[in-house]
Amino acid sequence: MKESSAADASAIRLQKYLAHAGIASRRAAEELIVRGKVRVNGRVVREMGTSVALGDRVDVSGAPVVLHLETTYLVLHKPAGVMTTMRDPQGRRTVADLIPKGLPRIVPVGRLDFDTSGVLLLTNDGELANRLTHPRYGVDKTYRALLKGRLLPAEIERLRSGVHLEEFRAAGAQLRVVAVRRETSVVDITVHEGKNRQVRRMFEAVGHSVQALVRLRFGPIRLGDLPPGATRPPSERELAALRALA
Ligand code: URA
Repeated sequence: MKESSAADASAIRLQKYLAHAGIASRRAAEELIVRGKVRVNGRVVREMGTSVALGDRVDVSGAPVVLHLETTYLVLHKPAGVMTTMRDPQGRRTVADLIPKGLPRIVPVGRLDFDTSGVLLLTNDGELANRLTHPRYGVDKTYRALLKGRLLPAEIERLRSGVHLEEFRAAGAQLRVVAVRRETSVVDITVHEGKNRQVRRMFEAVGHSVQALVRLRFGPIRLGDLPPGATRPPSERELAALRALA
């Protein structure tokens, strides 16, 4: 989906330009400017109020910064067995293989494990992507997990109050039990953090391995009945909700 963006204005502040290009959050961009890492048309700029126009050349640490004039957003149902990267040195299938041809270069917002399927947002709106993945914004993500074994009420309570993982304590999650059988359980879990393999590790912490994991929702974007491997543009309503979140 294409939209004209805030960067279409003839001149914008330098820190906003950098954030919009996905270089860093606005605050981190300000630090880059203060530290003298940013040049406009070859000249180091340290003044925060500086405006840049679209013809200006901007470099950070010597590398040119490309600002997209149009923002593109796409929702993908990432299948299991696909890398959430644009290239894989080992030659495995990546999400780039599933993006329709002819779109501007877009990248995933956050990451799903190789074995996880479900809803994945891709965009070239670097500022929105930075914010949606920043812990401060804590976007809710809901996953449906197929677990080995019967999930017991005491284990559900532990997950609801937060479990200790190796390097941090995961905040309490929302849980909705879909089905509990003798050998497997199905449960929907909503978390707002995004540590590596967090959901799998949370269930392992209470004694259950995850046999399959599907992300049903990323903030306001729901997987719905989008088939595995298929894409769709987000609706206007979803986009507005994403922007309001960030
Ligand atoms: N948590 C996980 O464990 N895996 C994912 O892919 C996403 C969240």
